[in-house]
Amino acid sequence: MTEYANILVEQRGRVGLVTLNRPQALNALNKATMEELVAAVKAMDADPGVGAVVITGSGKAFAAGADIKEMAAQGYMDMYAADWFRGWEDFTRLRIPTIAAVSGFALGGGCELAMMCDLIIAGDNAKFGQPEINLGVLPGMGGSQRLTRAVGKAKAMDLILTGRFIGAEEADRCGLVSRVVPAEDVVDEALKAAEVVASKSRPVAMVAKEAVNAAFETGLAQGVLFERRLFHSLFATEDQKEGMAAFTEKRQPEFRHR
Ligand code: CAA
Repeated sequence: MTEYANILVEQRGRVGLVTLNRPQALNALNKATMEELVAAVKAMDADPGVGAVVITGSGKAFAAGADIKEMAAQGYMDMYAADWFRGWEDFTRLRIPTIAAVSGFALGGGCELAMMCDLIIAGDNAKFGQPEINLGVLPGMGGSQRLTRAVGKAKAMDLILTGRFIGAEEADRCGLVSRVVPAEDVVDEALKAAEVVASKSRPVAMVAKEAVNAAFETGLAQGVLFERRLFHSLFATEDQKEGMAAFTEKRQPEFRHR
């Protein structure tokens, strides 16, 4: 397996596990970390032996944001010419499901990375926030858009304009996270959820992810039509035949494509 400087990469059965590993900077997402993370998950996405990916950090911090020290001295032309943060778009194009296992701080780009994942499992010590306003900027990795879609305008404005942090319970209440679990169990719970996802048909999980993501991009009628057409298309797959036959025969499905 490729060696990385800022992340640890493992595979457990059909599940990929990527751990952000810059403890000296609370896993701040500098350019090198972004490039390594994206390369690692793209390789998993291309590997039929991986059905889901868990992204996690340390007990203290999932990630405390983009790396402020790396950005501080940049000028407009530097940011524009480098198209700073564009690399994250590749993360959002992954086809296999991704799960963020969040313990401690998920701030700024850390919260935005968690929101790029398909679901967020939070430890009860998690703290989410978009504190960029305190640095004289706004979220730059999609936070103003994804947070607003996830939790609605009222809460998104509150977080983005005040920069305050919310705990796991409030994040759960407002729909930012999928589940809250004891902090010490967060990686295990995320791995368990990922194993469940990875036990399904890989292409069907990809299609389901595509359909849910379409809800962020399209109007309701268009989205429902897109979903219905995807639904129809799955009737061309062996896994649909197997899944429905297994139900009728009262047994567990043996999906071929996983
Ligand atoms: N970038 C660079 N370094 C960071 C960092 C970041 N985002 N967050 C923490 N660090 C570094 C600190 O500078 C410190 O390094 P030194 O020991 O060399 O001083 C080390 O990590 C430990 O951090 P603290 O001593 O600050 O730890 P703490 O427990 O006292 O505080 C914290 C924790 C509240 C998370 C605090 O570190 C903090 O406020 N971090 C910044 C949070 C933030 O503003 N994030 C948004 C970044 S901008 C962004 O993300 C833009 C975007 O939209 C993509």
